[in-house]
Amino acid sequence: MQEIFHRISIRRFTGQKASGEQIQKLLAAAMQAPSAYNQQPWEFLVVEDKVLLQKFTEIHPYATALLSGAAVGIFVLCAQNRLKLPEMAAQDLSAAAENILLEAVHLGLGAVWLGVNGHAERAAAAKKLFALPENIEVFAAIAAGYPAESRKAQSRYEANRVHFEKY
Ligand SMILES: Cc1cc2nc3c(=O)[nH]c(=O)nc-3n(C[C@H](O)[C@H](O)[C@H](O)COP(=O)(O)O)c2cc1C
Repeated sequence: MQEIFHRISIRRFTGQKASGEQIQKLLAAAMQAPSAYNQQPWEFLVVEDKVLLQKFTEIHPYATALLSGAAVGIFVLCAQNRLKLPEMAAQDLSAAAENILLEAVHLGLGAVWLGVNGHAERAAAAKKLFALPENIEVFAAIAAGYPAESRKAQSRYEANRVHFEKY
C-alpha cells in the first residue's frame, strides 16, 4: 500500500478548503479502524473555524500546523460511555487517527497528528474549549488540508529490529 510509504507529516498547507466529501472520506476511514472487542470508542469533532483553531493552539504549543493554512482540524474524541475495555481505548483511537492520515494521502491531502492523550492539562483545556460533555475526552487532533510542503518519505525499515522465532 503506497500511501503508507508516501505519508509524511504535513505542517504547512495552501489554505484551500477541503470538500465535504473529502472530510467525509477521512471520517469514514477513521471509523473503519479495528478496535478491541469492536468497542469503537471514537467520536470526532470537525473544526474549520479559524478562531476556534487558534484557541486550541493556545492550549497546545505544538499545534501551529492548524494555523498554517490547514483546511480542517479533526479532533479524535474518546466517548467513555462506549468503552467496554477502557485499557484498550488508546490503541483503538490511534488506529482511527492513523487511518485518517493514510486516507489523507490517498485523497491528495496532507495531515499531521497532534498529540493530546497523555497531556492531562491539554486534554482538560481542550474539553473546556469545545464544551464537551462530561463523558467525552479529546484524544488527539489532526490538521489536514492541501500540502504546501513536500519531501520524500525516508524508509525506516531496519532489518536488525526484526526477530524471527527467537529474540
Ligand atoms: C502520538 C503522536 C503525537 C504527535 N504530536 C505532534 C505534535 O504535537 N505536533 C506536531 O507537529 N507533530 C506531532 N506528531 C507528528 C510526529 O512529529 C511525526 O510523525 C514524526 O516526527 C515522524 O515524521 P513523519 O510523520 O513525517 O514520518 C505526533 C505524532 C504522533 C504519532
